Amino acid sequence: MTPNVADPVYLNGRYLPLAEAGVSPLDRGFLFGDGVYEVIPVYSRRPFRLDEHLQRLAATLAGVRLADPLLVDGWRDIVFRLIAAAPWEDQSIYLQVTRGVDDKRDHPFPPASVSPTVFAFASPLVTAPAELRVTGVAAITVPDLRWSRCDLKVISLLANVLARQQAVDQGCAEALLIRDGTLKEGTASNIFVVKNGVLLAPPKTQLMLPGITYDVILELAAAHHQAVAVREIAEAELRAADEIWMASSTKEVLAITTLDGQAVGNGRPGPLGERMWQWYQDFKTTVMRKT
Ligand code: PDD
Repeated sequence: MTPNVADPVYLNGRYLPLAEAGVSPLDRGFLFGDGVYEVIPVYSRRPFRLDEHLQRLAATLAGVRLADPLLVDGWRDIVFRLIAAAPWEDQSIYLQVTRGVDDKRDHPFPPASVSPTVFAFASPLVTAPAELRVTGVAAITVPDLRWSRCDLKVISLLANVLARQQAVDQGCAEALLIRDGTLKEGTASNIFVVKNGVLLAPPKTQLMLPGITYDVILELAAAHHQAVAVREIAEAELRAADEIWMASSTKEVLAITTLDGQAVGNGRPGPLGERMWQWYQDFKTTVMRKT
């Protein structure tokens, strides 16, 4: 086992050590990036919003015309078996499906006799350490060079990878993607903005991944009577924000306190972000008590 991947992993119906899990180099995930994925956070060995993650996986599979290789119960079984076998209480479960292994490299779909490759594993969940919650993180803005179906959670992530590395090269945690003058999301997170006490969120379109954490945040805002506007956010508004947050299954809610070298608001995590982080923690605890 590597320190970051538990044994066993799941591959095409079998549970086996990572060191014994192999995929053909003709796999279409390897040749074309032709596949989809999902990342599910696990707290105290309980998957968070599992049904919603599996629904998004099903929607992405349908969106790329890849037949779902498993029924919902099959996915649930894999998730629970990986969780039980992994050594950590808090985990992240990775699920991936590719269009399988053909006997040649050819762009059109392989014949129906080719079955998809299904791979899944558990990792430790690495949320933001307390120090980062106190300082917030730095981000840059970059043009969004991705394709036009960013609502699908596909493994072809080269544009995200390049943008994220650009951020890392500049000592930043995230790159915010700007398309047609508006904020879409981060390379691996959704982005929220606070201005004059109103929480602004970009709308769910084909140009943004519909985040599960995004939904939780909007539900928590509604439950606490927080003013919200779901609408396009102009780049100029982003730069004039009082607060900016990134949100994802692994980062939860994290303040961005520097954008392109400029302080966001007063340069420290803002009050609404801190409240949202607490609401999120309380909500997790409530959910975990229930299940
Ligand atoms: N990324 N937008 C993008 C482009 C993402 O890749 C992610 C998640 C999100 C947030 O979605 P959610 O709240 O459902 O995690 C938004 C995962 C964590 C990843 O690629 O590792």
